Amino acid sequence: MGKISVAIDGPAGAGKSSVARIAAERTGYVYLDTGAMYRAFTWAFLRARTDLGDAAAVQRIVETTEITAERDGVFVNGTDVTASIREPAVSGHVSAVAALAPVREKLVQLQRKTASTGGVILDGRDIGTVVLPDAELKVFLTASIASRAKRRWLELRAKGGTESLAEIEANIAARDKMDSEREISPLREAADAVHIDNSDMDLEETADLLCRLIKEREA
Ligand code: CDP
Ligand code: CDP
Ligand code: CDP
Repeated sequence: MGKISVAIDGPAGAGKSSVARIAAERTGYVYLDTGAMYRAFTWAFLRARTDLGDAAAVQRIVETTEITAERDGVFVNGTDVTASIREPAVSGHVSAVAALAPVREKLVQLQRKTASTGGVILDGRDIGTVVLPDAELKVFLTASIASRAKRRWLELRAKGGTESLAEIEANIAARDKMDSEREISPLREAADAVHIDNSDMDLEETADLLCRLIKEREA
């Protein structure tokens, strides 16, 4: 029974990272949150006040920005950005940053390097279609827009966030649209993915289902 590579894709707030984190803990797999990497790049561009339409300026930031997303947090050139990357300014710009080819090239290379050991769970938008097309298990995790917005609202409110449910739903809907319609590596369900709608499942049930699928594919 060998460890496998697991790809989880789906829209914003579907539960990908929470479920992946629980499953990784239980199985001893390494978890990589690729969305956090795109958020970290967004933080770097915002801080440098980069005009995303200026290709040379974008290139400069891509070349000089080192991102790590590990168990103890997300870092940009050594600065801990774990909390900052969840702020509304980052959520509002991340889909535009994720549409930039140089950003995707750099991050996909980093993600494949992390995955090359096997025994990994990666979550994002293009993991099963582009980053790890040969992953032994692909899951497309989704839920209704209403339940995704509500979950994200509860989560942000618990951390002291003041965004309204309507603002959060609008951000999620806008990102889903941009992520699905962009030219490079759009959000798509891989043909060989297991489709899970967890609108009416709690976190524990969804994590149990993912762990069961991993055990099945390992055998
Ligand atoms: O957690 P949430 O659903 O809010 O989003 P995320 O997973 O943190 O991803 C933030 C954004 O990064 C997405 O809306 C996509 O624009 C982008 N992303 C991507 O393009 N490709 C990935 N593999 C992961 C994220
Ligand atoms: O990574 P992604 O954007 O897909 O979603 P997430 O950040 O893992 O989950 C968003 C929120 O929904 C978290 O607060 C989860 O605890 C919650 N959740 C839930 O309540 N029930 C589920 N079945 C899945 C996630
Ligand atoms: O050389 P580099 O680190 O860029 O990547 P690689 O050695 O070609 O691939 C690293 C990992 O990415 C492999 O172990 C595979 O798990 C995964 N991969 C894949 O699933 N399908 C591909 N077409 C390419 C890579």
